[in-house]
Amino acid sequence: MEQALAHYFRHLERAGLNPAPDWCPSRDPDVRPRTDLTLDPIRQVLEFGPGLQISEDTAGGVHSDHATHAMARVLVDRASELSGARLLEIGCGTGVLSVLAARLGARVTATDLDEHALTLAANNARANQVTLDLRCGSLLDPLDSQERFPWIVANLPQKPAPAEGLLPLANWGGPEGDELFQGLFDAVGSHLEENGRVLFFMHSLPHPRFLTRLQQEFDLFPLRWYLRWIERGEFGPLGDIFKERSREGISHLHVEGDEAALVCCIWMARLAQAP
Ligand SMILES: C[S@@+](CC[C@H](N)C(=O)[O-])C[C@H]1O[C@@H](n2cnc3c(N)ncnc32)[C@H](O)[C@@H]1O
Repeated sequence: MEQALAHYFRHLERAGLNPAPDWCPSRDPDVRPRTDLTLDPIRQVLEFGPGLQISEDTAGGVHSDHATHAMARVLVDRASELSGARLLEIGCGTGVLSVLAARLGARVTATDLDEHALTLAANNARANQVTLDLRCGSLLDPLDSQERFPWIVANLPQKPAPAEGLLPLANWGGPEGDELFQGLFDAVGSHLEENGRVLFFMHSLPHPRFLTRLQQEFDLFPLRWYLRWIERGEFGPLGDIFKERSREGISHLHVEGDEAALVCCIWMARLAQAP
């Protein structure tokens, strides 16, 4: 992991980002595809986290993965700060993170572009006896202009692909992979309370210019690092695009022998304080 982080930091530095010396604190175990999940194939119910029962739709592409789990661990770590606070999740999917945050005592508003995902989230909220304020629409569009939150959470699509249709909507981040995040952070400042924080998942495939931009506008802290190893052929023809982007320096794959991994991180961004 040390070597993987060193290589990833060099990739980010080439894009103008300045990794801080204390950016390597916590490392989680490596992840291989879905190995840490136990999904009942008949009921499509995932036993999740501290006693959550989450229904998914793997056929419809609305399901949780390693990133959801890593984000969930961060929410649990911060349970005492979340309790009683308002929290906004952008792109809630099946609602795992929103349901978990609500179970930890947060008052949760959650948005998604996909109405089917919102139906699953509503069902999952009911099954876990919590209330979510669910809203359909893109990114921050469903909010009133004056709504502000101390916590915003986002695990958004971020795989780069040249055109729509090469990936399910739940995974496509735009041609450079960072387009949804750029859109979110264009407007996020006006929906964050003073000292508000954004927790988000990002792997090493989107263009690094996004993190560079963020470091100029926000205080940026990595909370958890891990490697997510890729199975041979897992990304189909997109695998070649990812490798080519990595050669060009606009994505990053960590390579050991004939295996490759994404470097993954849960980040926290806080509006930079005036000096
Ligand atoms: C990778 S899934 C993550 C779901 C959930 N947050 C989790 O961690 O399991 C991304 C979600 O973002 C949603 N999404 C995609 N584009 C969006 C947009 N422009 N605005 C809001 N949600 C969007 C997708 O429908 C999908 O449910």
